[in-house]
Amino acid sequence: MNKEIPDPQFNAPGKDRAVRAMFAEIAPSYDRLNHLLSLNIDKRWRRFTIAKLADILKRPGTLALDLCCGTADLTIELQPFTQVIGCDFCHPMLVIGNEKIDHQSEMRDRPLLTEGNAMQLPFADRSFDIVTIAFGLRNLERVDIGLAEICRVLKPGGRVAILEFSRPIVPVFRQLFEFYFHNILPRIGALISGSTTAYTYLPKSVGNFPDQKRLASLMRETGFSAVRYHNLSAGIAALHLGERQ
Ligand SMILES: C[S@@+](CC[C@H](N)C(=O)[O-])C[C@H]1O[C@@H](n2cnc3c(N)ncnc32)[C@H](O)[C@@H]1O
Repeated sequence: MNKEIPDPQFNAPGKDRAVRAMFAEIAPSYDRLNHLLSLNIDKRWRRFTIAKLADILKRPGTLALDLCCGTADLTIELQPFTQVIGCDFCHPMLVIGNEKIDHQSEMRDRPLLTEGNAMQLPFADRSFDIVTIAFGLRNLERVDIGLAEICRVLKPGGRVAILEFSRPIVPVFRQLFEFYFHNILPRIGALISGSTTAYTYLPKSVGNFPDQKRLASLMRETGFSAVRYHNLSAGIAALHLGERQ
């Protein structure tokens, strides 16, 4: 049983260790719950993300980093288009990711999964053409450091794609979704994962995370150019894109 409860505040000190322990606890049920709680819409969001990277993915020799890759869903989706490395600091999530990769027998260039902290990436400057991060940025102890690290490891002209929960933009839908997110999702999550904390942490951490416009500003402050975003499912999630100059 995980005794450490991650602080759902934005940039909370000490968040790293508790977040890692929380994902280690829920790793075995993570995929099942993800798809169940989102009614499989998360799969559509990942495919949309890849579509917005298509121009770079078409270029020969493209190298992508899927940061906070977890159980490697996005890593696996990227693999047919490019060489990809997944990185996450939670070992049990990576073990499940590797098992999934093992089962994809048709994979030619097997993605490499590596253990590393998004705030201190184990990669040289200007290594990647693309960095993706799906539902990971919100969990970092210091989002500004994470964004700076992404910028550092991107090649000039490279693109970051940040897929994250955001703020629904349609008023009545927003209220209905917030009710589901804060009252129903934590109960189903606790029942299936056995963790009473993880699915309470999720809506709280989303509520404390910058909204669409604020995240775009943070990206610009980090030095990304051509920053833009797409609301997904009326803003339940958003995909932010930016280029390294
Ligand atoms: C909600 S999961 C998302 C996993 C995957 N990207 C997906 O779309 O399903 C968040 C992941 O971020 C990882 N994570 C959180 N903070 C991290 C950090 N500082 N460095 C590396 N990984 C981190 C967690 O271990 C977890 O696997």
